[in-house]
Amino acid sequence: MIDMLLEWASLLIRWTHVICGICWIGSSFYFIALDAGLQSNPRLDPKVKGEAWQVHGGGFYNIQKFSVAPDFLPEHLTWFKWEAYATWVFGLALLILIYYFNASLYLIDPTVMTLTPGVAVAIAGGSLVLGWVVYDTLCRSWFGLTTSRLALSGFVLLVAATYGYTHVFSGQGAFIQVGALVGTIMAANVAMIIIPNQRKTVACLLKGEEPNPIWGAQAKQRSVHNNYTTLPVLFTMLSSHYAFTYANKYSWLVLAGIFIATFLVRHWFNTMHSGAKPDWKLWPAAAVPFFGAMILTQVGAPGVANVGNVTFAEVAPIFEQRCHTCHAAKPTFEGLDAAPKGVMFDTPQMIKRQAPLIMVQAVVTRVMPLGNITEITDEERAKIAAWINGGAKLD
Ligand code: HEC
Repeated sequence: MIDMLLEWASLLIRWTHVICGICWIGSSFYFIALDAGLQSNPRLDPKVKGEAWQVHGGGFYNIQKFSVAPDFLPEHLTWFKWEAYATWVFGLALLILIYYFNASLYLIDPTVMTLTPGVAVAIAGGSLVLGWVVYDTLCRSWFGLTTSRLALSGFVLLVAATYGYTHVFSGQGAFIQVGALVGTIMAANVAMIIIPNQRKTVACLLKGEEPNPIWGAQAKQRSVHNNYTTLPVLFTMLSSHYAFTYANKYSWLVLAGIFIATFLVRHWFNTMHSGAKPDWKLWPAAAVPFFGAMILTQVGAPGVANVGNVTFAEVAPIFEQRCHTCHAAKPTFEGLDAAPKGVMFDTPQMIKRQAPLIMVQAVVTRVMPLGNITEITDEERAKIAAWINGGAKLD
């Protein structure tokens, strides 16, 4: 009963996280596109940077953006912050519930680094705070003065963090940590820079003083960063469904390739929204790192030795010893009350039926057994591969 409630809690948290994320990303994409498409017009108030006309939902909208602020504080002012905060809060809850509470299954891989769950969680959680401090310092420093210099140094730091995570945690744990790190920076940009700066502007308006334009410029810079980092974060969030992305020895380079590809795609959309002629070269330019990442997942995938013909009698004890604690109608692994994803190895027929999936999970990507908690050997993986390649026969 308790396990069922926990599963429902997990579902509700994930659902809410995704819904809030959609709202946040939707408003981020909308406002960056709106900003890019603003047209100046001599008829407008000199304080207005530009205006946009839009048609949606059966009506026309005329939106104007003030470069700094209007002379007065509007009576009804809509703020955009809760979707960002809620996405982060529910994301953190999921991260803790799945990855930090079950660190030995999802976060730690002893073949990468032997860590106790306590140490792993301390490194994982601490790095999220450290990441924000480093990024924020970088933006405020001399590096932050030109966009290209900041973008390049930010990218180098991001790849360095990815390299670090993939050399400390399991592949899946590393990718989710990269997503959590960037997501934390994005939410902190809203909570620590964008909203406080907007509050300062509002406070000035209330006092009848002229707001400092630097506040708006700073907020705009961080909001552009958030826009460009959205696509790679979503990639890391989905990657746990595609083990081949992280289950290879170049996983950090794979993610670096995806970062570059998604930045270029985002850039294409942003320039396109500004009304400029779309730069179609950006698409083939994005395809290069993307295909590079695809190739790396192939050449970096772990291989197995050829061990000749293997019968079911030889692999049955491997499944019994290395998999059956979790993959059974009644799992004996502590904390599991049902077979994960309904995958059970109680009878030879059940094992045979799952052979293609077993090949992917235990041989090609090696994500099973989770965290190699049951200590399967390379030779045993090779035997499973040989049995499946020989037609997964039961006699
Ligand atoms: C410690 C528990 C544990 C052990 C041991 C274990 N698994 Fe799993 N397995 C899981 C969990 C948890 C999932 C669900 C993973 C997820 O949701 O991403 C899973 C999922 C799977 C899936 C389904 C993957 C999918 O995406 O549909 C297969 C196939 C699988 N395991 C095979 C194996 C094989 C083969 C072994 C033994 C070599 C093994 N597992 C050992 C916990 C375990």
